[in-house]
Amino acid sequence: MLDRDRIPRHIAIIMDGNGRWANQRDLPRTAGHVAGETTLFDTIDRVSDLGAGWLTVYAFSTENWSRSDEEVEFLMAFNESLLVRHRDHVAERGIRIHFMGLTDDERIPANVRRQMRESEEITANNRGMRLVFAFNYGGRADILHAVRSIAGEVRKGAVEPDSIDEAMIARQLLLPDMPDPELVIRTSGEQRLSNFLTWQSAYSELVFTDVLWPDFDEQALHDCLVQYQGRKRRFGGVADG
Ligand code: IPE
Ligand code: IPE
Ligand code: MG
Repeated sequence: MLDRDRIPRHIAIIMDGNGRWANQRDLPRTAGHVAGETTLFDTIDRVSDLGAGWLTVYAFSTENWSRSDEEVEFLMAFNESLLVRHRDHVAERGIRIHFMGLTDDERIPANVRRQMRESEEITANNRGMRLVFAFNYGGRADILHAVRSIAGEVRKGAVEPDSIDEAMIARQLLLPDMPDPELVIRTSGEQRLSNFLTWQSAYSELVFTDVLWPDFDEQALHDCLVQYQGRKRRFGGVADG
């Protein structure tokens, strides 16, 4: 049974398996992405209703540029149209949108970048759940961003190398306000992080489900949360009880 008093503060999801969902139906891979749209916005509503403070979804990785031009172009246009179509609903629910990733990358079409900025601006004063789209995101790029900014401070003489600590690195990540996720879910049966939240997931509970993203319904979400709630988080210490 799901304990509604123990919902993680931050849930992060690797939405995987769209292509395989489409393949199973003899459809083009892009049909799988389209099918995943309903799952995404239903999941956003569900997680927000459960009372989590943060939901991060992996939408496009720094490695996803290696897909065919056709699929990359589709994903860029699709992500834009999905924002335009859903952001009013998301905003009405008091949700605040963030984009985390290399969002200034010129390979992202200018209109997509504009919609991303606008979605953040429109929802900037919302006080409900924080919804983070990891877009053109890579965990190593995130750490690299922090290393570069701290190196700049060192060069200026503002920071002594010996004074660099974990908290300073965390403050220079792409989205420094974001708490570490207690739970990372990956759909589709793959058991890896694929460059997602490398720094932030150091102590996250990982839950892998075989369900493909377009099929990730309320029951599947609950199953993942129940698995999470059954874990003993020890953080290097000794379990009590
Ligand atoms: C996840 O589904 C969506 C993105 C990475 C954008 P995939 O497209 O990776 O689907 P599979 O893994 O090929 O089934
Ligand atoms: C991870 O899925 C990226 C996103 C879900 C956006 P991939 O399908 O790109 O990861 P790999 O290739 O299986 O590692
Ligand atoms: Mg995949």
